[in-house]
Amino acid sequence: MADKESKASAKNTREAQGGEGEAFDRKAIHVGEPDGEPLMDAQNLVAGYLPGVNILNGASLSLHKGEIVGIIGPNGAGKSTLLKSLFGLVHIHSGKLLLRGEDITNMRADKLVSRGVGFVPQTENVFPSLTIEENLRMGGFQAPKKFNERFEYVSSIFPKLASRKDQLAGSLSGGERQMVAMGRALMMRPSVLLLDEPSAGLSPMLQDETFIQVRKVNKAGVSVVIVEQNARRCLQICDRGYVLDQGRNAYSGTGRDLMTDPKVVSLYLGNLEEEVEKEGR
Ligand SMILES: Nc1ncnc2c1ncn2[C@@H]1O[C@H](COP(=O)(O)OP(=O)(O)O)[C@@H](O)[C@H]1O
Ligand SMILES: [Mg+2]
Repeated sequence: MADKESKASAKNTREAQGGEGEAFDRKAIHVGEPDGEPLMDAQNLVAGYLPGVNILNGASLSLHKGEIVGIIGPNGAGKSTLLKSLFGLVHIHSGKLLLRGEDITNMRADKLVSRGVGFVPQTENVFPSLTIEENLRMGGFQAPKKFNERFEYVSSIFPKLASRKDQLAGSLSGGERQMVAMGRALMMRPSVLLLDEPSAGLSPMLQDETFIQVRKVNKAGVSVVIVEQNARRCLQICDRGYVLDQGRNAYSGTGRDLMTDPKVVSLYLGNLEEEVEKEGR
């Protein structure tokens, strides 16, 4: 089912849930790509860092309100580049990027933030010499007067950030830092959050915790695009996913479709377990 052209097996079975910042009812979650205008829509993006060298060769992605959408694929496939191009950090040479129908192709990151887009980069996503609270203040610098209200909002999702607010971010564990990084981005109350490999470098247990946090953020009313090396775990929490290969969409479908598609499994998820079992017989 999860082949190139397929959108998804089943069509939308729900109306978009909640409003900006309102909790989503995940029990009513759809299967497959919902009908209607996507919140964010990237169409055939061609982009790169150097003139004449394209890293994205026509990548497309849509995110509907309430969804968690995953981007998986091999190292160097252009996953981070795609995410950066959605946040105005990589120049889009051709193709179109829309937010609620508005053309935001190559719009600057600070303008995107004020339109409700948040971004958590793969690395160096906290200020280690600042406290948790100071990190969150940095995240909310475009709306300093709303600090208390926003801090409360972020603390309701990540209570640990409030109880440890005076601790230096540099002294936190990897999982806790990811929480600070997400919290920082949430200070602007985004409706779209772009996450680049939040589980990278964490122990399996902490990886699980991070994915649970992502679900929590989503439940709180934030639609999420998440890039992950840890493809299986990512697809488990995603409504829909895209496999990116050499800057192009290779496969797309529901998380479950992709996880069970034999081609996706053998090409991108690995069948080591099966092979070992066969060898053992
Ligand atoms: N800042 C940069 N300048 C030039 N090339 C880059 C830069 N960042 C990434 N690339 C190149 O873009 C390609 C895709 O990288 P990336 O998007 O980071 O892949 P992924 O996140 O899927 O591992 C790689 O060939 C990488 O070398
Ligand atoms: Mg990357």
